[in-house]
Amino acid sequence: MTEISDKIVSSDELRNIDTQHKRLGELARAACHTLKNENSPTEFRETLNRLLDFTVVHFTEEERLMGRYCYEGKHTHQLTHSLLLNRLMELEKETFVFDKPSKARLLNFIRQDFWYHTIEDQHAWMAMSNMRKNCRTASSPND
Ligand SMILES: [Fe+2]
Ligand SMILES: [Fe+2]
Repeated sequence: MTEISDKIVSSDELRNIDTQHKRLGELARAACHTLKNENSPTEFRETLNRLLDFTVVHFTEEERLMGRYCYEGKHTHQLTHSLLLNRLMELEKETFVFDKPSKARLLNFIRQDFWYHTIEDQHAWMAMSNMRKNCRTASSPND
């Protein structure tokens, strides 16, 4: 996701991605909170469904932007999104049993794989934002 095309990602699009990452963080924290605090299975499922629904929204938007700006790593990133989403759904199903090992697996997955991807994305999009500034400076010396 570090390759940039000659087109420039707009600041509105970057702001939107940033807002979505923050929202994902809130939803991930809420899901982990219900898991850790032994909240009711119903409450947990609702929290996790909110996380799943918003993850789909966010991944779709990122893939749309990557397609729009012709990122070389789009297909690899799309594959990572599919793997993360499938694993999250798999673990959600497992956790319907609500035993301790499945809860621990889900908690670890959200805190590690899922969250690391979000952090890496955030850094990559911010790097593109800096590249965008550099491109502007380089191409418009008289601005
Ligand atoms: Fe992503
Ligand atoms: Fe992301």
